[in-house]
Amino acid sequence: MALEKKKIVLLPGDGIGPEIMRVAVRVLQDCAVEFGHQFEFAEFPFGGSAIDQAGEPLPATTLAACRPADAILLAAIGGPKWDAQPPAKRPESGLLALRKALGLYINLRPIDVRAPLRSLSPLRADRAVDIHIDFVRELAGDIYFGEHRVEVGAHGERATDVAIYTTAEVESVATYAFARAQARKGHLASVDKANVLATSQVWRKTVTRMAADYPGVKVEHLYVDNAAMQLVLAPAQFDVILTSNMFGDILSDLGAALAGSIGLIPSMSIGPGPSLYEPIHGSAPTLAGKDVANPVGTILSAAMMLRESFGLEREARSIEAALDRLFEKGIRTPDIAEPGTTRVGCAEFGEQLCAEMAAVSHQPKRADHGA
Ligand code: IPM
Ligand code: MG
Repeated sequence: MALEKKKIVLLPGDGIGPEIMRVAVRVLQDCAVEFGHQFEFAEFPFGGSAIDQAGEPLPATTLAACRPADAILLAAIGGPKWDAQPPAKRPESGLLALRKALGLYINLRPIDVRAPLRSLSPLRADRAVDIHIDFVRELAGDIYFGEHRVEVGAHGERATDVAIYTTAEVESVATYAFARAQARKGHLASVDKANVLATSQVWRKTVTRMAADYPGVKVEHLYVDNAAMQLVLAPAQFDVILTSNMFGDILSDLGAALAGSIGLIPSMSIGPGPSLYEPIHGSAPTLAGKDVANPVGTILSAAMMLRESFGLEREARSIEAALDRLFEKGIRTPDIAEPGTTRVGCAEFGEQLCAEMAAVSHQPKRADHGA
């Protein structure tokens, strides 16, 4: 059965965003031809470039286009040009507003140390093995979405940031994490700061209660400071890590560093409507326009989109396998180049990846596609 045409909204954003998006779209287009699918792409302004064009980081037309889409692919936003703006006029506010508007409450960030890139990890060789961690980060609550206030007093300013979690919010994201752990190695580490924070106490109590419904999942609770240490000392112990919005932001960057470059990590944000896929890195303004950015996080995000939103497992695998073969051959963007490897630019990396995908023909498999 042929797949219906899929409508994909593209948000290239700022900095290196447009360059890495171009490569990811090229890979998706080749994939569509190879496997006989139809993807319809529509690009919209978002982030700093949208501030420049429309005066706000999330224009109403962009949000309106995202709502009925089958999936959304975002590259990167932000840059020094907008850093001095008040919070509401910053690119980051657009991202938070988009997450909120689409109800994206789950953020999945897989940290996989890919075998051909193991030597990139800053960890000692014996620790950089078997690292396959799925971070499940809560994305719609916590200190990110509570009140942020600065009051000016006689002796300086007084700032407040409010963190809130309800039982229902914890249950929603934890349900996903338990299911994910069940489908993987059956190990769930819930990370909080229950020795200090009230939100963490609700978090831990809820996860502990839910654990009874998942006898096949081994649940462990860690304080966030210990989790940071364990991630560096013994990362192979982790399978699925469930954590709050704030802790997930911090720990997933640490996780990305273990994989050798933040440029390699994709993510998926899930809500009731279309899911949003984006690399976890930023817009790297200093690299923009130089054709040196690493498109792999965006390409892997696109592969994740094929798998998770469209059920196209084989197509996702063909992209991931071609990437690994390219890495084996030593084709690398500058951020992951090592002695003896061939340094290529962002666009050239995309070309070589498409050639690598084409080299392994999927034609025979296409014949059984309708079966
Ligand atoms: C991320 C980013 C965002 C976050 C910023 C840009 C608001 O760091 O997606 O991890 O903190 O969630
Ligand atoms: Mg972050």
